[in-house]
Amino acid sequence: MDEKPRVYVTRELPERALEKIDAECSMEVNPHDRALTRGELEKAVQNIDGLLCLLTDNIDEKLLELNPDLKVIANYAVGYDNIDVSACTERGIPVTNTPGVLTETTADLTWALLMAVARRVVEADRFTRAGHFEEWGPMLMLGQEVNGSTLGVIGLGRIGRAVARRAAAGFDMEVKYFDHSRNKNFENKYGLKKSSLEEILQASDFITLHVPLTPETEGMIGEKELKMMKKTACLINTSRGAVIDEKALLQAIRDDEIAGAGLDVYEDEPKLTPGLERESKIVILPHIGSASVKARTKMGLMAAENLLAGLKGEEIPNIVNP
Ligand code: DGY
Repeated sequence: MDEKPRVYVTRELPERALEKIDAECSMEVNPHDRALTRGELEKAVQNIDGLLCLLTDNIDEKLLELNPDLKVIANYAVGYDNIDVSACTERGIPVTNTPGVLTETTADLTWALLMAVARRVVEADRFTRAGHFEEWGPMLMLGQEVNGSTLGVIGLGRIGRAVARRAAAGFDMEVKYFDHSRNKNFENKYGLKKSSLEEILQASDFITLHVPLTPETEGMIGEKELKMMKKTACLINTSRGAVIDEKALLQAIRDDEIAGAGLDVYEDEPKLTPGLERESKIVILPHIGSASVKARTKMGLMAAENLLAGLKGEEIPNIVNP
């Protein structure tokens, strides 16, 4: 390439990632401390060779039509449901993601949420701050026992496995999992049981979701599934919000159909289903599963590598097009 390729980065990223891109490209970065508006994204995507975008950017067919010369789209996330991958494939545009580097970070956060819900950590913190802790009480803030209980993992990909490992090796839990494929080595190593979705819903004390958002997984936990869960069960979601029917979840919590929920992601992110924020049995976080300095830096470097490889026509390390 004679001239440096032109690249747009849709949000300020860890410095090392930007430096890596800047060394080889003519780079523009979203100057605002917020996601681009649709209009700004439409403008940004024109006249560039490569786009580095986030899960908050909707990369649909209409956007792609604005730049027939786009050579690569590098998503700064492992999930890529924000991108119409088949439209990209039709146009010969490689799409990339950042798998692996955020696995343990997201599993840690899943665990933090699970523990917080089980042992009512957020509620107890608020209670104490409000000056209500007057004396130790045998019935004060009783929660669910985590150690030795049953965990249902829905989706045994990288993050699901990292969560299952914590449960089996660190908390002596019985772990059941639901996935279309089977991982016998992992099953044997950690004593996991492959189960049907129904079995997991009925038998688990904690259920944690680790599936990508696809037409098949959208709304997979709705009213029917919530009713199948134990009344003492807690549901944790650090995958994508739309896997759960949020209204049905809110109702299930209000009706004491389940004991609690921990959410890092939302159906209509960043909006919450009204009422969710008032339920003390639900712990709500602002999509921070991968939010450690280390993981976010590695994600940036990986996205930059993918982008540069795509621009140079080299083999791309993490391509998601089928
Ligand atoms: C992802 O990577 O898909 C997470 O949701 C954000 O890191």
